[in-house]
Amino acid sequence: MRKQIAAANWKMNCTYQQGEKLLDDILKADLKPALHHEVIFAVPFPYLIMAKSLVSDESSFNISAQNCHHKKSGAYTGEVAGEMLHSIGIKYCLVGHSERREYFQETSQQLAEKIDILLENHITPIFCCGEPLPVRESNNQNTHVEAQIKESLFHLSADTMLNIVIAYEPIWAIGTGKTASTAQAQEMHAHIRSVLTAKYGSEVAEQISILYGGSVKPSNAVEIFGSKDVDGGLVGGASLVAADFIDIIKALK
Ligand code: PGA
Repeated sequence: MRKQIAAANWKMNCTYQQGEKLLDDILKADLKPALHHEVIFAVPFPYLIMAKSLVSDESSFNISAQNCHHKKSGAYTGEVAGEMLHSIGIKYCLVGHSERREYFQETSQQLAEKIDILLENHITPIFCCGEPLPVRESNNQNTHVEAQIKESLFHLSADTMLNIVIAYEPIWAIGTGKTASTAQAQEMHAHIRSVLTAKYGSEVAEQISILYGGSVKPSNAVEIFGSKDVDGGLVGGASLVAADFIDIIKALK
């Protein structure tokens, strides 16, 4: 079975102490995830080492960065390089979250460079894609998401593609309380998988985890994750409440 993933995206929330308590409360629940389950916490940079040490005894719990710079190293004051993340043992990094694309004008070309840098550093990119509301309203979401994937991922070989996780996050559902319907999510996830199949063949496409993101909460997680091509979720708001995220982890199929 493909890896089923519950990924928390804390964004720019929590003090160090709040983050430590949140992780602690989740670990105390003593969840025993199945072998094909993985729980990932994408935490702010200053908390990466703390978070990594807190989850170090749990084989299915991992820590992710929320971003990295698209250049290898050098005079980029305030930025964080892929090799820095690697040097502290980080295994995942979000790439191209819609908030990064929108507020920091990240381009597909830069995202492709980030993907390469992360892979060179043995870090699995969680590549985010998704359409804004006007694109959904004009029914152009499939071509929009397909273009995002082609522009930032299709330079990869089939072998390398196996090291990518994709997160589909319709922008109109992020932080709005509005979730895509199960049918809308499944339809887009199947479309993404067909795009991957056309380029890399079904053997590769069938192994790639595609997460859904956008107002996932305990009340909708079982239904959304239950769809054939939805392999878990990338969770913002509900990942900041221990009890809610615990229920979301339990909703993995
Ligand atoms: P949300 O955020 O769960 O608060 O909608 C999801 C995300 O942006 O990753």
